[in-house]
This record gives sequence, structure tokens and C-alpha cells, in this order.
Amino acid sequence: MSLKSMLSFAIVASVTTLSFAQTDKCRLSPVTYECSTHPVLVVNFDKVNLSKCGSFYDKSLFLKLKDVAYTSADATKNYTVAMIDPDAPRHEKGQAYLHWLRTGVQGSDLVNRVLTTGHTVTDYAPPTPPNGTGVHRYLFYLYQETENTNATVESITKRGKFDLDEYAKQHALCGPIAVNMFSTQY
Ligand SMILES: *[C@@H]1O[C@H](CO)[C@@H](O)[C@H](O)[C@H]1NC(C)=O
Ligand SMILES: *[C@@H]1O[C@H](CO)[C@@H](O)[C@H](O)[C@H]1NC(C)=O
Ligand SMILES: *[C@@H]1O[C@H](CO)[C@@H](O)[C@H](O)[C@H]1NC(C)=O
Ligand SMILES: *[C@@H]1O[C@H](CO)[C@@H](O)[C@H](O)[C@H]1NC(C)=O
Repeated sequence: MSLKSMLSFAIVASVTTLSFAQTDKCRLSPVTYECSTHPVLVVNFDKVNLSKCGSFYDKSLFLKLKDVAYTSADATKNYTVAMIDPDAPRHEKGQAYLHWLRTGVQGSDLVNRVLTTGHTVTDYAPPTPPNGTGVHRYLFYLYQETENTNATVESITKRGKFDLDEYAKQHALCGPIAVNMFSTQY
């Protein structure tokens, strides 16, 4: 990827915004597939720490996910974190390939930058964009769980054509409250 296309990618990624004030009562809003005005969810891999949104990296850096961090998390609440690829081939608008889903992560873990609590609904799968399918975006979303959040211990094995908005609605989540994104290619 040339510097020029990287730059235009970064500009496109930062243009779309979704107004969201952290002081608002937490509510559900649809996901966007770009960096947004949401705070950044820091995502740490063994080979790279993603502390800003929208960069392009070699996919070899993402083989092992370590933890996620959000210093403004409420230590008394639980959170759900999801990673999706909306650029997977043969996916329609609103559908994405599910790379990771973990529920019941305690706010204290997000503050302390560890991943000791919660339940893995879908195991982490590193990015594997197929040859010839161009640059894929990989997005991370942090949701706050509510007292109505249900079935947080289920297991989802069908990764394809996953609808995160629908999942968030069904599970009474609120957010996204923090977002991150990187892109990579074959
Ligand atoms: C990521 O951040 C942690 C904590 O600051 C540090 O120990 C680690 O070396 C960093 N990893 C990379 C790949 O920069
Ligand atoms: C958070 O999840 C744990 C299980 O992982 C549960 O025991 C606890 O009650 C939950 N707390 C809240 C505030 O929902
Ligand atoms: C990737 O695709 C290109 C053409 O689209 C082809 O030339 C190349 O050999 C492919 N690479 C592999 C490893 O299959
Ligand atoms: C989740 O909700 C369904 C109904 O929508 C109910 O049958 C089930 O018992 C609930 N599970 C938990 C763990 O609360």
C-alpha cells in the first residue's frame, strides 16, 4: 500500500462521525465501519498495541490478542467486546465476519489492562483476508452490559454473516461506547 493511499484511507476513516457524548445515558446506537468520535478502545496484541484508530499494518502482527483497555470503564459494570470484518467477501450490508466476541468482562479489567474475567462466546481468529479481496477493515466495539443482558454464556461458532447490531439489540447492550479499527490485506 502506498503512502498516498494510506493517507487517503486515514482521511476517509476520520471523516465519518457519530455524535455521542459520554455524559449521555448509555444507549444502543448502530455500528459504523469507520473510526468515529467514540473514545478509542485500546487493543493490545503481542506484537502491536493499537492505541489509535485507523492505521494499516501487516497482518502478521495480529496473531495473538492479549487484552483490551478502556480507562474510563466503570469498575462495577460488565462489558461485551466484539471484533468484526465487514469487508469479508460475499457479505451484505450490515453483515460482517465475526472474529472475536467476549462477554462479562468486568470494568476493572478494562481499567487495569488485563483480561481475567468474562466468557469467550467466539474465540479470537486472526485476520486472514483472502488474496484478491483488497484491504479489509477490522473493527472493535466495546458495549456496556445492562441488567437485562441475557445469555452471556452462549457460544457462537458461525462467524460468517454476523449482524452485530442485531446481537447488541437482542442482548440489551448499550453502546458502542469505545471503538477501534485497523486495516490489513492479504
Ligand atoms: C504494549 O504496551 C505494553 C505496556 O505498556 C508494553 O509492555 C509492550 O511492550 C507493548 N507492546 C508493543 C508491541 O509495543
Ligand atoms: C458481571 O459478570 C459476572 C460474571 O462474569 C457476574 O457474576 C456479575 O454479577 C456481573 N456484574 C454485573 C454488574 O452485571
Ligand atoms: C494472489 O493473486 C494474484 C492475482 O490476483 C496472483 O498473481 C498471485 O499469484 C496470488 N498469490 C497467491 C499466493 O496465490
Ligand atoms: C434469556 O431470555 C430468555 C427469553 O428471552 C429466557 O428464556 C432465558 O431464561 C434467559 N436466560 C437467562 C440466563 O436469563
